[in-house]
Amino acid sequence: MSTLHIIDHPLIQHKLSIMRDVNTGSKDFRQLLDEIAMLMGYEVTRDLPLDDIEIETPITKMTAKAISGRKLAIIPILRAGLGMVDGLLNLVPVAKVGHIGLYRDPETHLPVEYYCKLPFDIEERIVIVVDPMLATGGSASDAITMLKNKGCTNIKLMCLVGAPEGVAKMQEDHPDVDIFIAALDEKLNDHKYIVPGLGDAGDRLFGTK
Ligand code: PRP
Ligand code: URA
Repeated sequence: MSTLHIIDHPLIQHKLSIMRDVNTGSKDFRQLLDEIAMLMGYEVTRDLPLDDIEIETPITKMTAKAISGRKLAIIPILRAGLGMVDGLLNLVPVAKVGHIGLYRDPETHLPVEYYCKLPFDIEERIVIVVDPMLATGGSASDAITMLKNKGCTNIKLMCLVGAPEGVAKMQEDHPDVDIFIAALDEKLNDHKYIVPGLGDAGDRLFGTK
């Protein structure tokens, strides 16, 4: 069974409350998601491997630690996942970014694939899949299946808000993938939106509604 990490640092809770507010506009929503992604990134990258490097301080030579940043890939699920990329890139600027395009069919609520472009050496990388919303879990689970089919073996999922249904699906389909969320909400409604949630993340991020 994978581990569910709920990263509920006070700064994150505060920023998420503003994002949830229906009166918060796209500009603030985007900025807050960016800031939260960076704060969550601190925990998600906690076990990144370190290399020994030789450096010289003003006093002496020493063997120091440096993260093997070139081994990381960030994979946003389009569209809303795009809003979490820069926060992580601020922490690991040399990470590669791949894109997986999925949308939920409005009738069936099942994910439909429309785009996939990944770093050529994706199977060698530690992969962080990002998407603010983990609702039914269908999109995240399908994206991770696509990555596993390309040979990825070290995958983490970073979301903002999760529903119990989505967490359960992920843990059933991908017990090897740890999940990081900022909040575990109550349930899904009849339209498979997270309650209380924050509405449609893609529309709020890009101002399309
Ligand atoms: C949203 C969200 C997730 C998905 C979550 O995307 O960004 O990708 O729904 O729902 P699920 O867990 O039930 O699959 P959406 O399909 O609205 O596409 P968009 O980001 O392009 O708006
Ligand atoms: N997608 C969203 O953007 N929000 C939800 O609550 C569920 C799916």
